[in-house]
Amino acid sequence: MSFVKLYDEGLVNAIGVSNFTLPHLRELLKQCPGTTPAVNQSLWSPYYHQNKMLMYCKQNDIVLQAYSSLGGNCCELLNDPVIKKIALSHGVSSAQVLLNWTLQQDIAVIPKSKQPKHIKENITLNFELCEAEMKALNHLEEGKGI
Ligand SMILES: NC(=O)c1ccc[n+]([C@@H]2O[C@H](COP(=O)([O-])OP(=O)(O)OC[C@H]3O[C@@H](n4cnc5c(N)ncnc54)[C@H](OP(=O)(O)O)[C@@H]3O)[C@@H](O)[C@H]2O)c1
Repeated sequence: MSFVKLYDEGLVNAIGVSNFTLPHLRELLKQCPGTTPAVNQSLWSPYYHQNKMLMYCKQNDIVLQAYSSLGGNCCELLNDPVIKKIALSHGVSSAQVLLNWTLQQDIAVIPKSKQPKHIKENITLNFELCEAEMKALNHLEEGKGI
C-alpha cells in the first residue's frame, strides 16, 4: 500500500520525503495533488544548497529539514577560513555559525553529536548573522560542488 493511500485513509498524519530535488517535488505534487509532504530532509550547507527548491518548499508549506549542515564526517566546513572568521567575530564556534546560517533561512536543522559539549553548543545560539555575513556564506558554494 502506498503512503499516499495510507494518508488518504487517515492511517498516517503526514508524509515526509528525503533528498527530493525541485523536479521530484514538482512531480509528486502533480501526481498526488492534496498530499503535499510535510517535510523534505535534504543536505544543506554553505557548500551545497538548492535555493529554488527551498523557495518551492516555502511556497507549498513543506518544511525543509537540513542534514549534514556541519559537514558530516568531513572537517572542511568547520575549518573554512570564512566561517572561522565570522565565528571569531561573534565569539562563537564554526558549528554555531553554520547552524544559525541555516536557521536564519527558516530551515529546520538536525545536527548530530555524540559529545555533550557539542550538543550544548549546538542549542546555544544567542547571536545573529548580519546580511553581509549571510551573503558571504551563501557564496561559499561556488566552485565547491558539495
Ligand atoms: N536523509 C538523509 O539522506 C540523511 C543523510 C545523512 C544524514 N542524515 C541525518 O542527519 C543527521 C546529521 O547529519 P550528519 O551526521 O551527516 O552531519 P552533521 O550533523 O553535519 O555532522 C556530524 C559531525 O559533526 C560533529 N559535530 C557536531 N556538533 C559539533 C560542534 N558543535 N563542534 C564540532 N563538531 C561538531 C560531530 O562530531 P561529535 O559527535 O564529536 O560532536 C559529527 O562528527 C543525522 O541524524 C543523520 O542520520 C540524513
